[in-house]
Parts: sequence; structure tokens; C-alpha cells
Amino acid sequence: MKDTLLQSIGFTKEEIDKLLLKHPKCYQKFEELISLLGSLQIKNIKNYLMQNSYLFEKDIYIIANNISKTFNIEQSYYKTIKKLTTNKYDIISIKVIKMIYYDNAATTKVDKEVLDTFIKVSNDYIGNPNSIHKLGFESKKLMNAAIKQVANLLNVKEDEIIFTSSSSESNNLAIKGVLASYPKRKKIILTTILEHPSITNTLNNLKDIEIINLKLDNNYHIDINDLKEKLKLDPILVSIHHINSELGIIQDIDTIGKIIKENSKAIFHVDGTQSLTKIDVNLNNVDLFSASAHKFNGLKGIAILIKKEKITLTPLIHGGSSQSIYRAGTPSPALIASFAKVLRLSLQTKDKAYLKVKEINKYLKEELNNIKNITINSKQDSSPYIINFSIKGIKPETMIHKLEEKEVYLSTKTACSSKEDYSKSIYLLTNNLDISKTSLRLSLSKDNTLKEAKEFIKILNESL
Ligand SMILES: Cc1ncc(COP(=O)(O)O)c(C=O)c1O
Repeated sequence: MKDTLLQSIGFTKEEIDKLLLKHPKCYQKFEELISLLGSLQIKNIKNYLMQNSYLFEKDIYIIANNISKTFNIEQSYYKTIKKLTTNKYDIISIKVIKMIYYDNAATTKVDKEVLDTFIKVSNDYIGNPNSIHKLGFESKKLMNAAIKQVANLLNVKEDEIIFTSSSSESNNLAIKGVLASYPKRKKIILTTILEHPSITNTLNNLKDIEIINLKLDNNYHIDINDLKEKLKLDPILVSIHHINSELGIIQDIDTIGKIIKENSKAIFHVDGTQSLTKIDVNLNNVDLFSASAHKFNGLKGIAILIKKEKITLTPLIHGGSSQSIYRAGTPSPALIASFAKVLRLSLQTKDKAYLKVKEINKYLKEELNNIKNITINSKQDSSPYIINFSIKGIKPETMIHKLEEKEVYLSTKTACSSKEDYSKSIYLLTNNLDISKTSLRLSLSKDNTLKEAKEFIKILNESL
């Protein structure tokens, strides 16, 4: 019977005897192992086993070890766990568990169709869109079709889209580009303490500007009266987030935009990195808007800055003609096409995903609230995609590594500022150093499930 199983995947009688001699007790585990490899759609299981282990020379756990590596690459949400028993030669116990990925605000898994688009366009359209020959023309045609699709989806003009490499670049371009374009204006910029480092660090590195933080109310929303007051100072720019990456605070960019337009000449920049495809985005009163594909299942390395027609902007990168006059460099039709694809897919599923994530969020918040020593830092009306909480007396790094051992991934705060040992925004908001030193961020995506959330709460309780 056992022989048949191994023979069915191509082992010879002699090989089986040799194997049995070496690993007398592991035999029944092969069944599990083979079905595991089968479920991974590994075609030649025997070859796989032979290539990934020293089946005949060494401990069999090597197999599990290599499979676990393969899992990470081939099927990112599964992983094997290996357990060593007392007997050195009896060490395979393989359990497949689903990875729980709760770090989607840092980055998301790329959708297969999006990656397929990238590969196909890279293979089929080799020309530089700026070349005047046929190959260049074909690339340009495809790229322009993708740009048109993005413009339609976002309800803006094609010329109003600037492709960049990241939201960090878009934010830099927005701020520095505006400051350089209006040299006669006072260099006053209104912003908040809740911005991502790609805004705060950009501002802090600029000379001779005055940065003024807007007041926030009890729910961390921008205080409208304070905004009206500060607009009287005649700022050149108001730069704020739509959804804050750490706590998920949502600002009402429509109302804020209207107030800015009615009361000042200020240019309104919105960092929409955490909001595009998650909640409704209305760009009617927004002059500049940043977003990045990798936050909604697109590829890393492609992002946008929407710049309304009437706004003047000085480029940061000069060079030959490109997709946009505001950013030189050979454009990537494959990245741009992948952006159009992921935007279309994500907007199509936006409402359904929102409801699903809201249900998971509700469950998680209720359960977290029941755990002793946990304080939820996000607000009731924060984005359902982000839950920030603190565990009294536990260093976030310790918890992250403990959870990582169980294939659960979350983060301290924003991935870009995770080296500081406390959260500045949470400290400024709560005035509580303990809470700001122990905060964890759990960020969801359309791919998360309620079942997973239940498993997460179980694992979290076990890890406390
Ligand atoms: C609100 C916000 N803005 C900007 C960024 C930077 O995005 P990117 O990684 O595309 O540079 C992030 C990334 O976490 C973010 O959350």
C-alpha cells in the first residue's frame, strides 16, 4: 500500500527500500507530504522531493524546510510548519496553515491579472513610446489607451495625469513643484500632524517655509473653523491626507476643498494613497492628488499625481519628452497598463470589498475591545481598512515577531517610519507615551476573510 503510493509518484522499489531503511518511522507522513505537493500543483513530485531534499542522505525535515521556502514564493499565503520530534529521523510533521496578512496599508499582494498584463505588455510592446518608428508608435498607442482609461475612471483629463514611481514621489512633486512655480506667494503651508513621512519629511527639509498644522477635533478631523482662520494667512498650499495611514482617520476632502476655494487662493493637495479604491474619491475640489498602485493590489513602482489643468507645476526630474511634461524619463507602457488594469478591477469591486472589510473590522474591534490591556486607537468612523491598537506593557516589535512565527503579519505603524520607537502622531493626539509606544497596526484588504479574523483573535490571545 505504502509502496504503491511512492511508486505512483515514480520511486523505484530499490529507492523505497533505501528510504525505509533510513527513515523507518516517517513513512506515513509521506502521504501528507505528497498530497501537500499535489495541492501546490507541483507536477513532478518525485523530482521535486529529490531536488529539494537530501532524501537519501540527510534528515527528511529538509524537505519541509524547502517546501516552506517554495510556499512563500509560489503560493504566498500558505506555509508549512515543521516540528521536530525527539527522534532525529522521524521529524516530519507538516501542517498547512493559511498566512494571515494584515499589513495591507504597507503594501498589498499583486493581483495575478495585473501581473499578467505587465508581463504581456513587457513582452509584446518593446518599443520606447517616444521612438518614431512603428514599435515606438505601437507602444505609445497602447500607453495612451491605458492613460485614457485611467482618466475616465478618475473623471479627469488625460493631460492631468502624471505617472510617477511612488506616492512619495508624487507628494514631493506636488509640494516642491508648487513652491517652485509660484515664487511670489508667501511660503506658508497648511498641513496636519497626521501626515505620512513623505509629506512631513519633505516639508521639514525645505528651507524658508512656514509649516502650520491645522487643529484637529476629538475625532481627529480637521477643525473647519481653524482652517477658515488659517486660510486668512494666505497660504500657498494646503496638503492633507484623505485617509491617514496609521489610524485610518478620514478627512472630508470635498468640504475642505470647497472651504479652501471659497476662502483663499491656496492650492489643495490631497494624499490619497490609502483612499483610492477604498472609499469614494471626489476630485472636484482637489487640485493635486497622489496615489500608488501597490496599495491596491497593483505593482510597486507605479503611482500617479493628478494635477488639475489650471495648476502650474515645476518638474523635479528634467530630461527628454515623456508621458508627461512634468516628469521626464522613458515611460513604462507595461507599468502604466498594469495601473489602468488594477484601477479598473479595484474600482469595480470597491463597494463589495468595503462591505466585507467593514464586517471584518466590526468583528475585530469587538473582540479586541474584550481583551484586557488593549486600547483601540482608531476612531469609530476611521477607515474600516485600518485598525490601530495598543497592548499595554508589550513592545510592538516583540508582538510582531511572536505573531510572525504563526504566519500572522501586521506592523507597528507606517512601514516608512517603523524605526522610531514611538508613534509621534499617536503621542501628539493622546499625550500618552505608553499608548504611543505600544501601538500596532492591522490593515485589511479585499482578500481578508472573517474566518481568518477569528483565527487571528485566537492566535493573538495565545500570544499575549
Ligand atoms: C498616506 C501615505 N502616503 C504616502 C505613502 C508613500 O507611498 P509609496 O510607498 O508609494 O511611496 C504611504 C505609504 O505607506 C502612505 O500610507
